[in-house]
Amino acid sequence: MSGKNSSVFFLLSTYTLHLLLTTSFAANSDNEILYDIYPFIRVYRNGTIQRFIGQGFLPASTDPRTGVQSKDVSIAKDLNVSARIYLPKNAHPGHKIPLLIYYHGGGFFTESAFSPTYHNHMNSLVAKANIVAVSVNYRLAPEHPLPIAYQDSWLALKWVFHHSSGKGGQPWLTKYADFRRVYLGGDSAGGNIAHNMAIRVGLLVSDPDIKVKGMFLNCPGFWGKRRVGNESADSNRVKLSEAIWLHAYPNITGLDDPLVNPGMDPGLKTLGCRRVLVYVGGNDGLRFRGWYYMQVLKRSGWDGIVKVVEVKGEGHVFNLNNPTTPKAIAMLKALASFINQ
Ligand SMILES: *[C@@H]1O[C@H](CO)[C@@H](O)[C@H](O)[C@H]1NC(C)=O
Ligand SMILES: *[C@@H]1O[C@H](CO)[C@@H](O)[C@H](O)[C@H]1NC(C)=O
Ligand SMILES: *[C@@H]1O[C@H](CO)[C@@H](O)[C@H](O)[C@H]1NC(C)=O
Ligand SMILES: *[C@@H]1O[C@H](CO)[C@@H](O)[C@H](O)[C@H]1NC(C)=O
Repeated sequence: MSGKNSSVFFLLSTYTLHLLLTTSFAANSDNEILYDIYPFIRVYRNGTIQRFIGQGFLPASTDPRTGVQSKDVSIAKDLNVSARIYLPKNAHPGHKIPLLIYYHGGGFFTESAFSPTYHNHMNSLVAKANIVAVSVNYRLAPEHPLPIAYQDSWLALKWVFHHSSGKGGQPWLTKYADFRRVYLGGDSAGGNIAHNMAIRVGLLVSDPDIKVKGMFLNCPGFWGKRRVGNESADSNRVKLSEAIWLHAYPNITGLDDPLVNPGMDPGLKTLGCRRVLVYVGGNDGLRFRGWYYMQVLKRSGWDGIVKVVEVKGEGHVFNLNNPTTPKAIAMLKALASFINQ
């Protein structure tokens, strides 16, 4: 996802799904492709998994561009769940600032909190919004199929919240983060995760010291059995979404599982925050899901405000693929002011 030519939008728009059947010439060969979900992964019968994007790594640092500091923390060593925490320049104890918990995208198959795409995005957002951020590194499918990513993400959220009372070992959280101004965020598959974490917050978090004020979802990765909007006109998108869910979550109850389709979630009404901002790209096959999310959230009786911004002429997670364009800069500014309202 770094660089124009490997951008997810470019790749998705040329996406073809290759499902080679066992009756093909490669039958029983070790080199046989079991399935291919371009641009995310290709899985061979011999167990090899190729990932096409999101494999880059940048170390935690003090970012020369923004002055934002970052450091990596282990959340559960045995499970390899970790996070990268960010602190803006000129943060000082005694002046607490909002806290963002962020979930990266990558179709549940690729990317990490440490890839250039997300490290750069967090540096920019933390600087612009003047917030503390925790970018969660959850385990990926297919080695760790869903619901593992949800379990890891929840573990990370609880670990962060454990710092609200001043306990917990991370001074960047205990000293600087205002736990009454917590925000959740995520893009694509990470937008799906953020939503599902907000559902759990609504059900399970009753600590008066913690308030999740809002959530932003960038091109969230929802789906469902029934087509919404103009989805049926885009057969590649339909095949891609179905392949992602089938292979990321082999035990799924179906495409109307509430984890996939929030419209089927009886708990939507108690979503654990009062403000939601959804971004969709006007050329993204997932854009109808963003609009549908707003509809079902309103219809559920949820007591909050949801807004969708559709950015014309742009594709899936355009702001991450091309962060220096005027539209991406405008979006960064809008996210920063959303977190500071
Ligand atoms: C599996 O097959 C692929 C494709 O031929 C090959 O690149 C890879 O090295 C093989 N892996 C193993 C462990 O043999
Ligand atoms: C743990 O996670 C890191 C970061 O995603 C990864 O590079 C590493 O290979 C993982 N280790 C194991 C044992 O899975
Ligand atoms: C729906 O898709 C068709 C076929 O691609 C296209 O001609 C039409 O303009 C689309 N309509 C909307 C509202 O996007
Ligand atoms: C699917 O569910 C079965 C029964 O609960 C369980 O034994 C199995 O490990 C699950 N598979 C995966 C990939 O999670």
